[in-house]
Amino acid sequence: MKKRLRIILMGGLGLLCFSSCYYDQLVEEEIPDIPIDEPISFRDDIQPLFIGNDRDCTTCHNGNVANPDLTEGNAYDAIVPEYVVLGDGENSQFFRELPGNNHPVEAGFVLTVDEIALIKGWIDRGAENN
Ligand code: HEC
Repeated sequence: MKKRLRIILMGGLGLLCFSSCYYDQLVEEEIPDIPIDEPISFRDDIQPLFIGNDRDCTTCHNGNVANPDLTEGNAYDAIVPEYVVLGDGENSQFFRELPGNNHPVEAGFVLTVDEIALIKGWIDRGAENN
């Protein structure tokens, strides 16, 4: 009996925390689909999202603190194939766990919906090293 009470209490606390403690919710806005005939380049469109504009993924994603390593020259091989399902952004960890979209820890900033859409679109197109 005592044990059951404890389980109920813990569950209640867990639920409370789930609704109020979680800091990086799934994006609430819908991620727009970029028309498939618009090319997306890893070098020109994706790599620049990782550093600059008041953000720096590489303070953590640098080969020491967190994976994947997002530093220039290393990022592509670190992301592909481990963190993507080629051609399927929706089911790729590199889309599903971005700052602004369910990133596992507080990054200090979030990507915009349009930036997240670019990453998804790049994976949808086969995550090429282009
Ligand atoms: C404050 C440190 C920090 C910053 C800044 C940060 N991350 Fe992370 N990120 C982490 C940690 C810690 C994990 C958990 C995975 C690990 O420990 O290797 C993680 C996980 C991820 C994952 C899921 C991979 C996995 O193994 O769980 C992705 C994708 C990711 N980050 C992308 C990014 C991107 C893109 C940026 C910049 C826009 C960014 N992160 C900024 C610390 C950070």
